Amino acid sequence: MSSDKRVVVISGGSRGLGQALVQDRLDAGDIVATFSRSSNSFIEQLREADPNGERFHWEAIEGTDFDGVRGFAMTVLRRYKRIDALINNAGVGIEGLLTMTSERDIHQALTLNLESVIVLTRACLKAMIAERRGSIVNISSVNALRGHKGLAVYSATKAALLGFTRSLASEVGPQGVTVNAIAPGFFESDMVGHLTDAQRARIIRRTPMRAMCTTQDIVDSVRFLLSTRAITGQTLAVDGGFTC
Ligand SMILES: NC(=O)c1ccc[n+]([C@@H]2O[C@H](COP(=O)([O-])OP(=O)(O)OC[C@H]3O[C@@H](n4cnc5c(N)ncnc54)[C@H](OP(=O)(O)O)[C@@H]3O)[C@@H](O)[C@H]2O)c1
Repeated sequence: MSSDKRVVVISGGSRGLGQALVQDRLDAGDIVATFSRSSNSFIEQLREADPNGERFHWEAIEGTDFDGVRGFAMTVLRRYKRIDALINNAGVGIEGLLTMTSERDIHQALTLNLESVIVLTRACLKAMIAERRGSIVNISSVNALRGHKGLAVYSATKAALLGFTRSLASEVGPQGVTVNAIAPGFFESDMVGHLTDAQRARIIRRTPMRAMCTTQDIVDSVRFLLSTRAITGQTLAVDGGFTC
């Protein structure tokens, strides 16, 4: 299956921000390939509307299984012959005092939020370099930029993504590939579903624009970064001024 449409890979496209990104790219006319551990009604509706996978491909992949992640990228390439953009979105929001956090949870967060991103990027990058064109957007977090009690491990994974973004941008810029990061402020999704009203109110009080972000704010920013060749190696904080 080959086409002139742009092929966009999005990790974790079943829920939350990933779901909004998948829908936005499909609405824009792109071919979208995504994975998550499990399917849901959003994924099943898209698969039923496109049974031959002409514009939408989903697989059940555990992001910490690197063979699975590499295999996913290879399937996308075999099926659509190219990868034009990659949005590294899947992540786990590990929370808790460091002394109370198990090494198993630390390993899980580092593996999914950092190592898996590097493995998937490496697998997709080869196709981009061959075409001398591509865009990579890494979804980091405001917690990469500001300290927050209980989020040391999560912050470490998300801050590492910013270093990865800058260095990879300088490595692959000459081959026509941009690499940027978005550091979103808190937005409503399953990941922050546990926040109490008091915690939400505190975040809003500390945000100059006096509102939490929306997934649409992040989607709009991703769309902008995919649209330009002039910006690379940068981190865009989309946080209503939380980090200013
Ligand atoms: N929500 C916020 O306030 C916020 C703020 C800043 C940054 N972020 C970042 O934004 C990104 C999206 O967050 P979100 O709030 O939209 O998250 P979410 O609602 O929890 O959705 C996460 C997505 O990733 C998939 N996923 C999770 N663990 C996976 C695994 N081990 N293997 C494969 N897929 C996996 C989930 O599907 P399955 O569960 O079926 O696997 C789902 O599709 C994350 O990188 C997060 O760190 C979020």
